[in-house]
Amino acid sequence: MQLKNKKILVGISGSIAAYKAAHLVRLFVKNGAQVKVVLTPNATGFVTPLTLSTLSKNPVHSVLFNSETGEWTNHVELALWADLMLIAPLSASTLSKMADGQSDNLLLTTYLSAKCPVIVAPAMDLDMYKHPSVLANLQKLRDNGNQVIPAEKGELASGLDGEGRMAEPEHILEFVKDFFAGTQTWAGKKVLITAGPTYEPIDPVRYIGNRSSGKMGIHLADTLAARGAEVVLVCGPSRIRQEYDSIQRIDVETAVQMFEAVTARAADMDCIICAAAVADYGVENPATQKIKKDGQIPEIKLVKNPDILAWCGANRKKGTIVAGFALETDNEEENARKKLEKKQADLIVLNSLNDPGAGFESDTNKITIFGKEERRADFPLAPKNKIAELIVNTLEKWFIQ
Ligand code: C5P
Repeated sequence: MQLKNKKILVGISGSIAAYKAAHLVRLFVKNGAQVKVVLTPNATGFVTPLTLSTLSKNPVHSVLFNSETGEWTNHVELALWADLMLIAPLSASTLSKMADGQSDNLLLTTYLSAKCPVIVAPAMDLDMYKHPSVLANLQKLRDNGNQVIPAEKGELASGLDGEGRMAEPEHILEFVKDFFAGTQTWAGKKVLITAGPTYEPIDPVRYIGNRSSGKMGIHLADTLAARGAEVVLVCGPSRIRQEYDSIQRIDVETAVQMFEAVTARAADMDCIICAAAVADYGVENPATQKIKKDGQIPEIKLVKNPDILAWCGANRKKGTIVAGFALETDNEEENARKKLEKKQADLIVLNSLNDPGAGFESDTNKITIFGKEERRADFPLAPKNKIAELIVNTLEKWFIQ
């Protein structure tokens, strides 16, 4: 199951080779991938959406706007969902539109919104495949960072024999497996992540806590593990489980326990990401027995908790990357930049509570990432697992390559 948990968006354009895309979808699913399919309107003449939705176990999309139902397909969401967009077969017409940045169908708009890598497998007749304008368009795609699986030689639908056949689905599968194997960008790197809330006991049954679910940090742990990192997850109380067994999870309850778990391991780490919503204050001597309500109204004395991120920023070994989060309601950018400096972090992920769909308990988030020297990266609203990938991509871009 080399493609386990991988999300592949298969784009199919109008070529007779489209019938082979059905087999390819099946191969991806058999190898553990999650598959979604988009078709150009012409492709639906060669292979039916019903075949593809049955094989992919997901709805298939071919139009941006459905005039009968008035529905709109969210191409940005589709593009953000994918770890990889694979366009197979790629016809000469779709190729030229992609090279030109045109967007007159769902596949093209999805391609233009994709932040993930894109691989294409062209299929066309012999002379078309050799035409200088086709060769120039393929080169343009490569220059734009896409990868091309060259067409193969053999019998063509026109009856001619030569180069132009879409690579066999088994060969495309191998290419895609190699591609994912090459994404082990964090192999040999140790990463520590804090996640979840902390609970500060008042007495044996009550505590001060917050609404953090732990999702963001746990998705970060999974994303980094998928890319080969050795991950230690120091997690406050959270019901969410990580997907990767390789992650070492240390469950803690209080900020002080989290601090101890982090400081004991920080020296070993190449990267520390503080995603936990640590309670700023703990309770000074928590009662050892349940506080009764028939006595005097109790006074709870709070004491400041250690700032784990600030400690990591100040005490890191040379070369360790330190990243944190900021949840702001006003002067977002200014406050995020201040946090970057105050905590001596390399990177701060800002989520603004002013953005609908962003924040603690939601499944989505909208972030802006700030780094030193005025570095900044903005991203649209996306599911938290996708946000984790965008954060890891930014870490790679800014610090690892
Ligand atoms: O100072 P503030 O709580 O707004 O900063 C948020 C960032 O600092 C987050 O990355 C959070 O994980 C981290 N933090 C921490 N320890 C604390 C408080 C916050 O690691 N005691």
